[in-house]
Amino acid sequence: MTPSAPSALKCESLQNPPGVDVPKPRFSWILESPERGEIQTACRILVSSETDLCRREIGDQWDSGWLETDRTFHVAYDGEPLLSCRRYWWKVKWWNAKGEESPWSEPAFFETGFLERSDWKTVWIGMRIPHEFRSKENVLLGEASGEHVQAYAIYLRKEFEVREPVLRASAFICGLGYAELFVNGKKVGDTVLDPAWTDYHRNALYSTYDITDLLKDRTAVGIILGNGRHIRNYGHDVPKAACRIEIEYKSGAQEIVQTDGGWKTSHGPILENGIYYGERYDARLEAAGWSEPGFDDSSWEKVSFLQGPPLSSQMLPPIRICETVNPVKVASPKPGVYVFDFGQNFTGWVRLSIRGQRGTEVRLRYAELLNEDGTLNTLPNENADSEDVYILKGGDIETYEPRFTYHGFRYVELTGIPGEPRIDTLQGRFVHSDVPRTGSFRSSNDLINRIHQNVLWGQLSNLMSIPTDCPQRDERQGWLADAHLSAEEAILNFDMAAFYTKFLDDIRFAQKEDGSLPDAVPAYLPRLYPADPAWGSAYAILVWLMYLYYGDTRVLERHYLPLKRYIEFLGRNAEDHIIRKLGKYGDWCPPGSITPKKTPVELTSTWYYCHDVNLVAAMAGLLSRHNDEKALRTLAAEIQEAFNRTFLEEDQYASIRVSKVDSYPNQTSNVLPLYLNMVPPEKKTAVLGALVRSIQKYTDHHVDTGILGTRYLLDVLAENGRADDAYKIATRESYPGWGYMVREGATTLWERWEKLAGPGMNSHNHIMFGSVDAWFYKYIGGIALLEPGWKKIKIAPILFKGLTSAETSVMTVRGEVRVLWSSEAKRFSLEARIPVGVTAEVRLPLLWEKACVLESGRIIWENGSPKTTVEGVASVGHSSRDVSFHVMSGTYAFVVCECKDAASTVPHKA
Ligand code: BGC
Repeated sequence: MTPSAPSALKCESLQNPPGVDVPKPRFSWILESPERGEIQTACRILVSSETDLCRREIGDQWDSGWLETDRTFHVAYDGEPLLSCRRYWWKVKWWNAKGEESPWSEPAFFETGFLERSDWKTVWIGMRIPHEFRSKENVLLGEASGEHVQAYAIYLRKEFEVREPVLRASAFICGLGYAELFVNGKKVGDTVLDPAWTDYHRNALYSTYDITDLLKDRTAVGIILGNGRHIRNYGHDVPKAACRIEIEYKSGAQEIVQTDGGWKTSHGPILENGIYYGERYDARLEAAGWSEPGFDDSSWEKVSFLQGPPLSSQMLPPIRICETVNPVKVASPKPGVYVFDFGQNFTGWVRLSIRGQRGTEVRLRYAELLNEDGTLNTLPNENADSEDVYILKGGDIETYEPRFTYHGFRYVELTGIPGEPRIDTLQGRFVHSDVPRTGSFRSSNDLINRIHQNVLWGQLSNLMSIPTDCPQRDERQGWLADAHLSAEEAILNFDMAAFYTKFLDDIRFAQKEDGSLPDAVPAYLPRLYPADPAWGSAYAILVWLMYLYYGDTRVLERHYLPLKRYIEFLGRNAEDHIIRKLGKYGDWCPPGSITPKKTPVELTSTWYYCHDVNLVAAMAGLLSRHNDEKALRTLAAEIQEAFNRTFLEEDQYASIRVSKVDSYPNQTSNVLPLYLNMVPPEKKTAVLGALVRSIQKYTDHHVDTGILGTRYLLDVLAENGRADDAYKIATRESYPGWGYMVREGATTLWERWEKLAGPGMNSHNHIMFGSVDAWFYKYIGGIALLEPGWKKIKIAPILFKGLTSAETSVMTVRGEVRVLWSSEAKRFSLEARIPVGVTAEVRLPLLWEKACVLESGRIIWENGSPKTTVEGVASVGHSSRDVSFHVMSGTYAFVVCECKDAASTVPHKA
């Protein structure tokens, strides 16, 4: 049978990003085949400058020829040099194991951005002295520089003639802090809060839009600029924009319109606008038609020229309004005060629809919690005012949603409206980086499903072009520990490749000459150098996860040397391999405390030092830097020895003993060395025993860990034959634990294990305890990766009491892995989908003494030994508890039952 054509073609990331600005972009595709054990043995890629050439099989840019490779992703372009701002067409075909050739895929296209800096000599414009306002300083992070000084939103406009029929027109724009582009009165694209945050002292990102259909003979372009993080307190001047429009006429002629002295500027209806502050919009100041041709801009001033950072293309998924959330209830705790409950904590804002008299001032305040009397509890917002104000122009129904702010909330208070609101007066808008969903998980246990949902809402709420810690208070920074502790979960749920590629560059840019990193990236807060090693570890961990889960070797090459410099920095700060100085937060937020009351911070710092050295050693090996690898492996062994010498006491690792009562073994201190296999072999049983004793006897199957220990606790238990203990911890409904949060009404994860309602470190939408969801995928769903890029996987769900089924899928770089299992009285069945080019180790539980295994209705294993062979499956061994098979790509339906029931067993419908 002829293999089918490759599908889901992508260039650089799952969503084809506009404006690819890497000279050798990488191509990926997915292969589907009904055959088992299928593999690509060769492929051929064509890249053409015209769609027609591509269809006629003329790869004038690149014809790879017959490429003997099983690689179906990240095949790097190797043709003629690509030109800036062009569209290229490409397609691919493949040969299977039998040497049969597939048809060509449907052609796909990608567009380039500016491949050389000199291709766009940016001109930055803005308003020299905008009207300014002051919002509160950020007390939580102790920004000593006083109040935040910010500008009213700035409006820019220009008109030009479009001389001939247009073939294609693209707009490239970067506006700092935030920009929205309009052409002939219409907003371009559906992105919000654009561009992504970066350190503007180093770089900024431009977005690319196709505006072909928006042009008219006489065209007007408008830009609105908001403050975002481009504010004085972070060392910046006023908001500014660089924009370039490239028009390709049908005649072949080209025209470029860009920001220059011919633009004009003014203020408009958006006055105050700040991330924490909120927005103040006076609809009476709207200037109808300001971004349309013919508008009278005689009262607008000429723009000023400003300096701006170097630009590169924004290749991560942009921020969008991804979902509308309707309120579930409106209450009126006081006359004239209406509180909308959206039933869900999330990030974004509301859309207001209202009619009233001109000049009426309507206020929207946002909060995560309510007070007992039903009014808003804004204490956890700390110094973030989180208030949007809309002043009506009067007349018809007016709708408003803010542009340059966002809030973290479940409740919204509406005041100042004439009469009573309806439930649809407000609609919630869930706003976040629009990362594609790639994973799904569902089990027969409602509590676990709810925890999974809480993780999803929490994760998305904290993807705001960087991974943030929280969305509600005056913080919202890219804290590195929060990022790496939740990264595996994020990767299983979403396509994070482009997002982390960009964030890794942010980390690289944040590195200082001495190799140090800050705790939060971009480094908006200079006092956060040098990082606590547990925070700085995000650099090595994210690079490594990009390699493991996306098979990305380019990130290894790009970040290896900076990572080595970081390791050297840690080394210079170690005494006899123990890091005593750099630790600040350690095992942050354990039960009952913010600071690690039990786990020595030197222990966590040194452990992360060892962890990172191991990872960088493995990277050195992959990059064939063998001398480095050898030196780093030696160093890792020395750190390990020093770690054990310093922190291993008899049969358990060190703890800070606060009182007699908590003198039981410390969970985090013991989990970390077990995770890295650092425990001397003769002590391993004792250390594991101490950990299990702590869990079973002293904390009654509750976490006693902060964010660091929690990340590794459940994995360590599962990998050491203690999955039942892990499961009990994960599903505990009493304090502290994820189930407790659910029982107390949480719809996202909290920052603290405690239910707190006061000010301070008390966000109800943090993701740093989110790793539990990766555990669900791996041990309940049963999908785990064994080799980088999903080349080899393990399918081994663990059966827990009270859990009867789970359905899990992950869209990997090689296609979808799906596992559906269910456990009934007389049978255990498991259906698996394994993508082309992937092999799996499938482990099935033996629940009966005389058990049989069937695959698609045929007995393949019976009573301790293999039986009939079926295509794609080879038995590899068994224990008294389970049996394992080596399985090639394809779809399978396994059933385990008692041998006596085998004849009557039919497979589930796949
Ligand atoms: C953030 C955390 C972060 C921590 C470090 C907090 O304010 O919200 O999530 O990792 O600071 O101290």
